[in-house]
Amino acid sequence: MRALYVSTEVFPALKTGGLADVNAALPAALRALGADVRLLLPAFPAITRAATDLQAVAQFTAPLAATKLRVLRGTLDGVPAYLIEAEKLFARDGNPYVDAAGQDWPDNHLRFALLGWVAARFADGSIDGWRPDIVHAHDWHAGLAPAYLAARGGDRPGSIFTVHNLGFHGEFPGETFGALALPENFFSIYGLEFYGKVNFMKAGLHYADRITTVSPSYAREIQQAEFGFGMDGLLRSRSGVLTGILNGVDPAHWNPQTDPHITAHYGTADAAGKRACKTALRSELGLTQGDGPVFGIVSRLTAQKGIDLVLEALPAMLAGGGQLVVLGSGEAALEKQLRAMATAHRGAVSVCIGYDEALAHRIIAGSDVVLVPSRFEPCGLTQLYALAYGSLPLVRRVGGLADTVCDVSPAHVAAGSATGFVFAEATAAGLRDALQRVLVAWREPKSWARLRANAMRQDFGWAASARRYLELYRELRPQA
Ligand code: ADP
Ligand code: GLC
Repeated sequence: MRALYVSTEVFPALKTGGLADVNAALPAALRALGADVRLLLPAFPAITRAATDLQAVAQFTAPLAATKLRVLRGTLDGVPAYLIEAEKLFARDGNPYVDAAGQDWPDNHLRFALLGWVAARFADGSIDGWRPDIVHAHDWHAGLAPAYLAARGGDRPGSIFTVHNLGFHGEFPGETFGALALPENFFSIYGLEFYGKVNFMKAGLHYADRITTVSPSYAREIQQAEFGFGMDGLLRSRSGVLTGILNGVDPAHWNPQTDPHITAHYGTADAAGKRACKTALRSELGLTQGDGPVFGIVSRLTAQKGIDLVLEALPAMLAGGGQLVVLGSGEAALEKQLRAMATAHRGAVSVCIGYDEALAHRIIAGSDVVLVPSRFEPCGLTQLYALAYGSLPLVRRVGGLADTVCDVSPAHVAAGSATGFVFAEATAAGLRDALQRVLVAWREPKSWARLRANAMRQDFGWAASARRYLELYRELRPQA
């Protein structure tokens, strides 16, 4: 089974969120099952620097603004990778989607169309003599890959489109359609047109043979208006080919027994190591040492993540003896409000604005509770990392959070299945109520220790999910 895995970021070379973690771990897990999975990525400078053994295997002038490009073959962390070198479009440092001021690059439609176009060019086997059976495209950036494949018709690779976040559409003015070198009739309601605009997400959802998303609950939710971002009708019409497959944890990077970033290593039975991580985190961030729980957040700071709810519920957390640690970056207003809280509550609230991989690990390890109160969450990885590190997740019952955290209800506690705290309503009152339940549970160290052990015993490894993807590949191309 040969699969071309089309995406834009991959850990550790280039990461803006969980997508990069998945793009590193899933291809490797599929390869471990025997599939010949190869990555296709734009040759962003950070990706080129991380790749080894690069060698040109093809060159073209694409019909997209007559862009000259080369396809390079190399290796990224042991996984074969093809990089698209198109200096005019990809030789830009920093975030792959926006400029230094945080503005979308004005030629993003061409940049990401080129990714899809090259993916489809693999169909005839002329690039590196390698013809994929499956083209697996991830999020809107790769959304045109299924469209270019559909435009080729005939005997072509099967296409799979995975939605990591329906909130980002990749939408461009209708006038850009002419530059995409797609058949005229693709710009229609039964195509990639969305309210007069070109919509890359819709292209993926409409033209892919199969659609997946990153949790079973999110697969159901996105078929409803509340979570559908306008795509729910289309998704309902394609529900027969839509499945949810959970993301996993890569133990090479997230394991408290081996993590190079944390103060002390620990396992399920060892509370001392975790205590050492908490003490170290507090002194590193200037929090007072004491008996209360530390709540940690490692997140993009956006409306999706429910950070405003945390701000509202903060007084209740502090009144109950809790402390808050936040690492993140995002919307300026949220950053500002969080900073103000840290200033107002020195010793109890610490806020680090920015991106810091090592600190993220120390926060996940040193917190007692990891907060993920999202309004929507396709899968979410930080709650999975929290479980592995025995830091109980406090999450909203939505998307992948609902699928991975089991609330401390009396029934779950009795059955030994409880692993965290779950609340339903995306309101400060809902979150405050869950915080109160945390504070009650915190007063019972023995049962807290049991919860922590339950959490750490959960197996969210990638193997099971990779097998589901492979089954899907086989369903589409049984002869491969
Ligand atoms: P999303 O992809 O929606 O941002 P996920 O929970 O799937 O959410 O993944 C977020 C990933 O990004 C995790 O690996 C998390 O540790 C990491 N992360 C988020 N913000 C930061 C930050 N400021 N510094 C370091 N890592 C971060
Ligand atoms: C997106 C989602 C997140 C998911 C990640 C990886 O960024 O917001 O929930 O875990 O993709 O699939």
